[in-house]
Amino acid sequence: MRKERMNTMKDTFYITTPIYYPSASLHIGHTYCTVAADTMARYKRLRGYDVYFLTGTDEHGQKIERKAAEKGVTPQQYVDDIVDGIQKLWKRMEITNNDFLRTTQPRHQKVVQKIFRQLYEQGDIYKGKYEGWYCTPCESFWTETQLKDGKCPDCGRPVERTQEDAYFMKLSKYADWLLEYYDQHPDFIQPESRKNEMINNFIKPGLEDLCVSRTSFKWGIPVDFDPDHVVYVWVDALSNYISALGYDTDDDSLYQKYWPADIHLVGKEIVRFHTIIWPIMLHALNLPQPKQIFGHGWLVLNGMKMGKSTGNVVDPDALIDRYGVDAIRYFLLREMPLGADGEFSNKALLTRINADLANDLGNLVSRTAAMVEKYFDGVLPACGELNDTDRAIRDLAGQTVTRYAQLMDGMQFAVALQELWKLVSELNRYIDLNAPWALAKDEAQKERLGTVMYHLAEGIRIVSVLLTPFLCHTPRAIWAQLGMSEGELTDWASVQAFGKLPAGSVLKKGENLFPRIDIEKELSELQALMPPAPAPAKAPEGGPLKPQIEYDDFAKLDLRLAKVTACEKVPKADKLLQLTLDVGTLGTRTVVSGIAKHYTPEEMVGKTVVLVANLKPAKLRGILSEGMILAAVDSEGTLKLVSVDGELADGVSVS
Ligand code: ME8
Ligand code: MG
Repeated sequence: MRKERMNTMKDTFYITTPIYYPSASLHIGHTYCTVAADTMARYKRLRGYDVYFLTGTDEHGQKIERKAAEKGVTPQQYVDDIVDGIQKLWKRMEITNNDFLRTTQPRHQKVVQKIFRQLYEQGDIYKGKYEGWYCTPCESFWTETQLKDGKCPDCGRPVERTQEDAYFMKLSKYADWLLEYYDQHPDFIQPESRKNEMINNFIKPGLEDLCVSRTSFKWGIPVDFDPDHVVYVWVDALSNYISALGYDTDDDSLYQKYWPADIHLVGKEIVRFHTIIWPIMLHALNLPQPKQIFGHGWLVLNGMKMGKSTGNVVDPDALIDRYGVDAIRYFLLREMPLGADGEFSNKALLTRINADLANDLGNLVSRTAAMVEKYFDGVLPACGELNDTDRAIRDLAGQTVTRYAQLMDGMQFAVALQELWKLVSELNRYIDLNAPWALAKDEAQKERLGTVMYHLAEGIRIVSVLLTPFLCHTPRAIWAQLGMSEGELTDWASVQAFGKLPAGSVLKKGENLFPRIDIEKELSELQALMPPAPAPAKAPEGGPLKPQIEYDDFAKLDLRLAKVTACEKVPKADKLLQLTLDVGTLGTRTVVSGIAKHYTPEEMVGKTVVLVANLKPAKLRGILSEGMILAAVDSEGTLKLVSVDGELADGVSVS
């Protein structure tokens, strides 16, 4: 079953995304994983690999069955409609998948049935009893942890402890093998931290056998030798990665060519299924293991995983309509490292578009094309003698290509873009260093001016090629301005040496690559498209800001330092202390303060506090209080007195 390749054949690269649940509200979080996988697929194609990129949909289960019933359609009609929307969105995001697998397709069902049967026949799947809580009206099983206050989480009615027949897959039997496999394949789980999580949280505490069939609903792949049962969730879903390749069918040429997968890219919450159940299934079937499972982080909105609750989503279509697919793809991969979570915000998106795309990249290209038009009628001059600034650009371009390749191979997209932008910034700085506008004034500097133009144009060409995995339209728009087209000038070999762009190319300034955005104006328009922020669990510290005041209002306060010379409890008032204050030239004051729960009279004597000295006196518990002292109180009710951070005389004014 090993991948055997002839020398003349290209190396293969097989990458997958998870298959998506048909969700009625597709959000920008969903696109994150496909865009990342697509970028990797495009990068590997650029590197000359024969790439196979799979995505698809996970269409079975009780939830779908129910939703379809609610809508009065068949489950198949229900999923067809949603899957259509998913495929349209992937087209809009310019996702270059080679196949789209739907678990409702016969090609998948047949393979799942064969796998299930084989595992059963060899004793890795056995029939047992599934115990759980059953809600009769909903006809559904729930686990202890799924219950809400001990009741059905869907309808809130009481549940009964019941058993149903079910098949189980033996996982525990393979725990030791799995640990050893991880150990011998250090790159199997990425990022590294997720591996420890799997070992310590799931494998070491003991693997429970996995329930792999159900009888309480019908919308699933029937177990062919026991048709009351449908295959349940993970055996169905995970098999997609090989059923799509025609594994165990008459034509398994794709399977022979592409399996094992090079990367299964998945969200961090499903790393567990991909690094425990899937390897055990494959091992039991005696099939090779995928080379790597990469767990990516979540796009977070208002501190919660996007998609976690209704309304907690951002619609990708609306953003693509406004800013174009390139800007959205760039933002998703630039803003957060692939393994980590990242908060989505409109402001961050717009700031990136303006700073990185409109300013740094867009200006570089338009300035360069405009200067070649102005100084050389658009015809790119040949490169003359080199000076230090030219050599620095060449060196940096070479280093950038090397760094970029390492980072892209490790799927560190954000850092790869960061490196690429260092080259963009240096090219912009190179313009300022060489001041072409000054060179242009001196006929004797014509050759030097030509050399500067050449380095800019060639530098931009290299940047544009390295951008092709990320951006779908921008590289082509740049090539049009550089007077070149796709082919030998845009392949991987073309960025290995500086100087491929032929002199004589005809440059032509085009439209701005990314129009500058009026951020304030866009933000308010986008706000209308965004879901409202959920109410915070706790009142914000300090409460909302009070209306603004004039300086004159503030100046009416007379604040003074005062020393506590005596202090006692106010009888029958457990919150109040009576203080005697020395306020320097203003003399002695009596103040009643609600701090008895926080300070003892003994602690107070000798302290310097801040007194509001011109507050109208008021009687508290029969005592005339001549002003008040300042303190800070947080939402937990903790109180601290305001003081100054050194010794000053009593009566000094605070302003
Ligand atoms: O889990 N940020 O499907 P799914 C980043 N059918 N990624 C997100 C995200 C967010 N806010 N929300 C969802 C399933 N995703 C199973 C997979 S594979 C054999 C079966 C990602 O539709 C999520 O992490 O719930 C996952 O990788 C993918 O979308 C599909 O999630
Ligand atoms: Mg999910």
